[in-house]
Amino acid sequence: MEDSGNDQKTLKSIIIVFSYHHHNTEKIARAIAGVLGAPVKTPQQVTPGELAEYDLVGFGSGVYSATFGRPILALADSLPQSAGKRAFLFSTYGAPGFVANREFIEKNHAEMRRKLEVKGYRMVGGFGCAGWNTNSFLKYFGGLNKGRPDENDLKNAGAFAREMREKAGAQGT
Ligand SMILES: Cc1cc2nc3c(=O)[nH]c(=O)nc-3n(C[C@H](O)[C@H](O)[C@H](O)COP(=O)(O)O)c2cc1C
Repeated sequence: MEDSGNDQKTLKSIIIVFSYHHHNTEKIARAIAGVLGAPVKTPQQVTPGELAEYDLVGFGSGVYSATFGRPILALADSLPQSAGKRAFLFSTYGAPGFVANREFIEKNHAEMRRKLEVKGYRMVGGFGCAGWNTNSFLKYFGGLNKGRPDENDLKNAGAFAREMREKAGAQGT
C-alpha cells in the first residue's frame, strides 16, 4: 500500500478495531490504515503474541458505556509485556458535540490506555470523533450524529495517522 512517507525507517503498523453498532469506528480505522499502510483486524483476528511483530499498534473502538468494547479490552489484558512498543487509541462516540471535548475523549480512552501502559506500551496519542448513535431510545428519533463520521472526520483521521507516524518514527524503532 502507498506510503506517502518521510525518510524515517518504515514503521511496521497494525490497526485493531472493535466496531459493531454502525461500523463507525471501522471507517476511521480504514482511513488511518490507508495512511500507515497497515492491515485492519478485529480483536478476534489477532493473537496476542502476533502483535510483537509491530512497531506501532492502533487500537480503536466505539464508545460503549464510556469505555472501549469488551473484546478489545480483553485483548489488552491478554497481551504479553511489550516494553517500548508504541500505541495510539482512536474512538467514535455518540454524545452530542457540545459534550465531546478533549477531556471527554480522554475519559473514554482511560481504561484502555491504562491496560496498555501496564503492558509496557508507550502511548503516542489519541483521536476521537462523533459517530452515528441509535442506541436505546435514540432510535425512535433518528439517532444522534447522523452522517458521522463524515468526509471531514476521515480527513482528520488521516492527518492524525500522519502525526502518529511522525511521532513514533521520531522515537526510533
Ligand atoms: C450499547 C451502546 C452503548 C453506548 N454508550 C455510549 C457512551 O457511553 N457514550 C457515548 O458517547 N456514546 C455511546 N454509544 C454510542 C456509540 O459510541 C457510537 O454510536 C459509536 O460511533 C459506535 O461505534 P461503532 O459503530 O464503531 O460500533 C453507545 C452505543 C451503544 C450501542
